[in-house]
Amino acid sequence: MSVSNSNADNKDLNLNNNIDKKVPRHLAIILDGNGRWAKKRGLPRLMGHRAGLRKLEEMVRLVKREGIRYFSVYAFSTENWNRPWTEVQGLMSLFRFYIKHKVKEVKAEGARIRFAGRKDKLPEDLLEMMRWAEDETKDENILDFILCINYGGRAEILDAINNLRHDDKFLNKDLNIDITEEDLRKYFYLPDVPDPDLIIRTSGELRISNFWLWEGAYSEFYFTDTYWPDFDYDALKAALDDYAGRERRYGGLKK
Ligand code: FPP
Repeated sequence: MSVSNSNADNKDLNLNNNIDKKVPRHLAIILDGNGRWAKKRGLPRLMGHRAGLRKLEEMVRLVKREGIRYFSVYAFSTENWNRPWTEVQGLMSLFRFYIKHKVKEVKAEGARIRFAGRKDKLPEDLLEMMRWAEDETKDENILDFILCINYGGRAEILDAINNLRHDDKFLNKDLNIDITEEDLRKYFYLPDVPDPDLIIRTSGELRISNFWLWEGAYSEFYFTDTYWPDFDYDALKAALDDYAGRERRYGGLKK
């Protein structure tokens, strides 16, 4: 299958967002199974993460081709700091590598890179690169590619509450004003990004693991046994076809 990289094709590619088929506006993926993929091949875990990164590069193009507008991936959770130091450092180096060498390609696809997560604990040079990547791609509007790094759903909700206290509406007031969902949402990491319509988790685990806790309240879930580095176009299509056949009721009744 050939996938074009050229900017000139952006218009045609968007036509794939055909009106007959229900396509998620926001697709989120929990990238899982890199370690097991590597182990199965007798390789170090970091090789699994490298293979996972290559897969992600391919997936950005495929996702765009399918007409998806927002694509978010869980690349490093607030709990992943508990992994061995060498693995954490290896992942940080992969993030650096990606930003340094791949942002231009992503930009050529018309994709805007954004990050969601806590900024504390991340190395200063990486934070600098992240800011650069966001700035470099800020005018792209075919796809928002969201990397959740040092992200945790509970942390995001807590951060929002703590930041909301400084909002003019609440500052220096006694706390008898009710906080609404809209008040809180303004303080999420990416308040303008719509909630994920579909969350895919690879590798056979059946958990949310602190990903998009608030935003995923009405997301559809799709689980596959495939390890992330093996997740290919057919696997993506299977998930999207499954989603297209679902009826979303948001707590209401069947129409
Ligand atoms: C989970 O697999 C995967 C991760 C914690 C890291 C995901 C990161 C990448 C695919 C690299 C992404 C790079 C960028 C730039 C976003 P696991 O290690 O938990 O696998 P296991 O459950 O089989 O051990």
